[in-house]
Amino acid sequence: MNSDLNKLQPYPFEKLNQLKSAVTPSPEYAPIALSIGEPKHPSPSFVVKELTQALGKLSIYPSTKGIPELRESICDWLTQRFNLQPKSLSAENNVLPVNGTREALFSFTQVIIDRQANPEPETQNDLPPLVVSPNPFYQIYEGAAFLAGAEPHFLPCLEDNNFIPDFDAVPADIWQRCQLLFLCSPGNPTGAVIPSDTLQKLIELADEYDFVIASDECYSEIYCDESKPPIGLLQACAEMNRNDYKRCVVFHSLSKRSNLPGLRSGFVAGDSDIMQQFLRYRTYHGCAMPVQHQLASIAAWNDETHVQENRSFYREKFATVLPILQEVMPAEQTDASFYLWLKTPIDDEVFAKKLFEEKHVTVLPGRYLSRTVDGINPGENRVRLALVAPLQDCIEAAERIRDFVKTLAN
Ligand SMILES: Cc1ncc(COP(=O)(O)O)c(C=O)c1O
Repeated sequence: MNSDLNKLQPYPFEKLNQLKSAVTPSPEYAPIALSIGEPKHPSPSFVVKELTQALGKLSIYPSTKGIPELRESICDWLTQRFNLQPKSLSAENNVLPVNGTREALFSFTQVIIDRQANPEPETQNDLPPLVVSPNPFYQIYEGAAFLAGAEPHFLPCLEDNNFIPDFDAVPADIWQRCQLLFLCSPGNPTGAVIPSDTLQKLIELADEYDFVIASDECYSEIYCDESKPPIGLLQACAEMNRNDYKRCVVFHSLSKRSNLPGLRSGFVAGDSDIMQQFLRYRTYHGCAMPVQHQLASIAAWNDETHVQENRSFYREKFATVLPILQEVMPAEQTDASFYLWLKTPIDDEVFAKKLFEEKHVTVLPGRYLSRTVDGINPGENRVRLALVAPLQDCIEAAERIRDFVKTLAN
């Protein structure tokens, strides 16, 4: 067996199930889960209609590259959304559809990591390549790194730094060994958006040390202020007049933007040389998107009305839930995403366990999403709340959390 499998940690939800199995929730309350980031707003009906009307395509083998119409729609969406130079993206060379960004983040890492690369043969003989990642992080980054023969190198996302890693503090030898840098902006679980000047600095570092930047932007369309959509990595390239997007790729998804997590539809876009190798890998990987899903995806990418409506639902949830929580604990509006990254008055695991036991509300302990590095675990004493449940459930959960926190003070 592949011995790298032994490096994989139990997934956060396995850890959570184990934590919950140790207690019996109070029968007084109906269960409310705020633990999983699965969108619950209805999928757009016009997309569902498109999908069902296209079911005749089940008789066709899809191609890995996807149909040109989908790639065109994606290029148009990216250009419009991120103010890219018109025609700087080509449907032929710069984009690929993927079956959700989860598999794409994994497979992309396998494409980029060169196990044989040795940045400084004399001094760093046996050191594996590095995948640099935020901490806390979407768990795929770590698993993908291990299975590609690399080692994850974590950068803490702390409150003092607005939950953005302090990239200036990363020493040169780390950048030398870095082959792939993962960014998650807006961040899961912190909701923080990496600003343009930081992105531009990272692009310069990528040139200097020859690494690839993979920017996971699957929450980019869930933001609070309609006049301030989060910036993306390709936009930072455009602002530098770097219209070939060299060393840069972005990951986008319909799961959160359009409430279509079951469609398994996203895309990867950026540097054409990298995308060419990604296509080569995927041809063997065998993960083409079914044509009916591609046709439904075109309908989704071409429409913004349902996305605006979706944002308004989340805005309402934040506006009602935050004041309830603020009665007893610090709770701040994040830049974007549908998460709250709450500081807990007691140990995060104990908090989640007791809250489940006493109030039947499930939240995710922060430490399950992060690793301890140099004695610091940035998830410690935090819990993640996903405001995906219906509004009334989010309000009810917030009230139960408030009442629970009050009991801790006594
Ligand atoms: C940060 C982040 N990236 C990627 C994904 C994967 O989303 P999907 O595979 O549905 O596109 C998720 C899903 O929760 C996520 O939180």
